[in-house]
Amino acid sequence: MTTKQKVQEKTGCLVTGVAGFVGSHLAECLLSLNFKVVGIDNFFSGHRENMLSFLDNKNFYFHETSITELHLLDKLKRLHPDLSYCFHLAAIVSVPYSMDHVDETMEINYRATETLVRESTKLGFTAFVFAGSAAEYGNDQRLPLQEQYASDETKHLSPYGRSKFLASQCVAEERGGVALRCFNIYGPRQDPASPYSGVVSRFVDAALAGKSLTILGDGMQTRDFVYVSDVVAAYLHAAGLKGPISSPLNGIYNVGTGQAVSILDLGATILSLTNTSESLAFLAERPGDIRHSLADVEYFKIASGWTPKIPLHLGLSNTLEWARKHSQ
Ligand code: UD1
Repeated sequence: MTTKQKVQEKTGCLVTGVAGFVGSHLAECLLSLNFKVVGIDNFFSGHRENMLSFLDNKNFYFHETSITELHLLDKLKRLHPDLSYCFHLAAIVSVPYSMDHVDETMEINYRATETLVRESTKLGFTAFVFAGSAAEYGNDQRLPLQEQYASDETKHLSPYGRSKFLASQCVAEERGGVALRCFNIYGPRQDPASPYSGVVSRFVDAALAGKSLTILGDGMQTRDFVYVSDVVAAYLHAAGLKGPISSPLNGIYNVGTGQAVSILDLGATILSLTNTSESLAFLAERPGDIRHSLADVEYFKIASGWTPKIPLHLGLSNTLEWARKHSQ
């Protein structure tokens, strides 16, 4: 029996935002590795359907509550004494919403995170892994973006970016605290419903509905698209539950692929994978859009042994396959 197997048999993992896009994939993976998973969500942006594949799993315990509940970790630890890892993904995730609700965004994304990470240290949790964001870099164009570029001087473009930056700093100060600055995550279960949804989910949705893909601007802007299973693997590596390192990291790390993909190429790839004769339609650039975003992932790779495994073509095929099944 390996050390990691020994750990998981008596280990509980808390996943906040478990009904969300990434949270649900993380919970599913932890359960498949035989961890006990305690999930919380208040369904502000998560969906119960995202948990369907594991709601009945005997190792899964769900609590419908908010991360702002007083003494949350303390209460959960009393109910589940074997909890020792916290994966904190619950947040206000919409950038436009954050613009209109500045105080609420600071409260949920920053202050509640600060409270949780402090409580987790006090309760002796082994690791606290936090969902940071590429938004912490503002519009910094020194590419690829290195972790130290985000600083108190960074001009954040939204309260969302600012709140994630402050929270990441705070998490990194605690022992066992790790913030993962994820770039553009895509994959099955990403919600295409809002006009502000991720571009991959919107393009996939449009292509399958026989509509043209709307490019905002000239399409030459680039992003670093990272597939959701690679992000899940990053969470496990950060916690010391996967890979060569068996203790949690401590600090702030980028999670991306280090590959820049233009929105034009993304659209063309999705069209070729769907074999449709649909076309690209061009509309005005989104106000405040960042021109290029690209992660330097060397620091995280060296520290954790993680590497992204899913090339864009495969990730998009998987996403299309899932969307085909779910649009019926
Ligand atoms: C992403 C994050 C956002 C974060 C930001 C920080 C997602 C979904 N959003 O925004 O939370 O604050 O990084 O760096 O990951 N586009 C189109 N057509 C569409 C939709 C989008 O051309 O139908 C374009 C956008 O104008 C943009 C690019 O595609 O240039 C990517 O857009 P989007 O997926 O919304 O992500 P980001 O803007 O990078």
